[in-house]
Parts: sequence; C-alpha cells; structure tokens
Amino acid sequence: MAQVGIFLGTVYGNSLLVAEKAQNILNEQGHEVKVFEEGILDAWLIYRQYYVLVITSTTGQGDLPASISPLFYTIRDQLGNQPELRYGLIALGDSSYDNFCGAGRAFDALLQEQGATRIGKMLEIDAIQHPEPEVISCPWVEQWGRLVEQEY
Ligand SMILES: Cc1cc2nc3c(=O)[nH]c(=O)nc-3n(C[C@H](O)[C@H](O)[C@H](O)COP(=O)(O)O)c2cc1C
Repeated sequence: MAQVGIFLGTVYGNSLLVAEKAQNILNEQGHEVKVFEEGILDAWLIYRQYYVLVITSTTGQGDLPASISPLFYTIRDQLGNQPELRYGLIALGDSSYDNFCGAGRAFDALLQEQGATRIGKMLEIDAIQHPEPEVISCPWVEQWGRLVEQEY
C-alpha cells in the first residue's frame, strides 16, 4: 500500500478534523499516513516520491493559513518542476467570501504549473452548505484512497 503525507493548513481546526478523519480512512484502506500540521520542505520532498494530500482552509481575503503559507512559498520559490509528484487536494472555504477556497485553488494552480499530477478532482467544501466538512470529505477520501490504490 501507498505512503501518504497529509499537509495541513488550518486556522480554527476544521481542516485538522478533516485530516484526522482522512488519516483513519486511508489507514483502514491499508495506506501508511503521516499528518504534517506545519509542513516543511524536507517532509514534502520525501512524500513527493509517494503521495501528497493537501488539506487547507482559506483565511483573510483568499489567503493561506499561517500553518501552510511558509511551505507554499518555499515550494514556489525553491522548487522547479516536480513531475514526479502525485497529489490530492481538499479546500475548505466559505462562499460568502469573495475568494472562495482561494488558498486551495492557489496551491492547486502552483502544483499544476510545476507539472505535478492531481489524482481525482479538487474537493471544495463550502462551510455555508456543509457546516460539518467531514460529511463531504469522508466519502471523497474513500474514493481518493481507492484511486491511489489503483495507481500504486
Ligand atoms: C477571518 C476569516 C476569513 C476567511 N476568508 C475566507 C476567504 O477568503 N475565502 C473562503 O473561501 N473562505 C474564507 N473563510 C472561511 C474559512 O476558510 C472556513 O470557515 C473554513 O472552514 C475554516 O477552516 P479551518 O478551521 O481549518 O481554518 C474565512 C474565515 C474567517 C474566519
């Protein structure tokens, strides 16, 4: 089974809850999972050889949470193409803000620019429609874990 590194961006803990549920589901599927609450480049470089799952909310006006923005800018400024990277992305946001899921979309755009392959579609969870994000994220993660299994 695959090794998966979950890289987390959160302000209030919703993304952490989603990440913990994701870890349980992926573990049950037989994957080996580590959650990075404040991811650093060294960990990213290890997991880009395997699988990465980015789970991030958006704060401010479409901004990345402080727990993941240093990693984002390091990846942007220090890494070039990373075609070996296979990743999934879960974005938490709130459609009453102008830049809905701005952080998740920015992360996805960066990784696409760098030649990475996204497994599955990006999941965007709107807090207005889904105050309990795990209701949406759990079935998505189950499906994502199966896609990883097929690739592995
Ligand atoms: C001060 C503040 C600013 C926010 N800005 C945005 C935003 O620009 N775009 C968006 O989609 N959601 C925005 N949100 C909504 C959060 O991303 C959403 O509530 C999310 O579930 C929070 O997850 P977290 O607890 O992991 O940080 C904002 C929330 C707060 C409190």
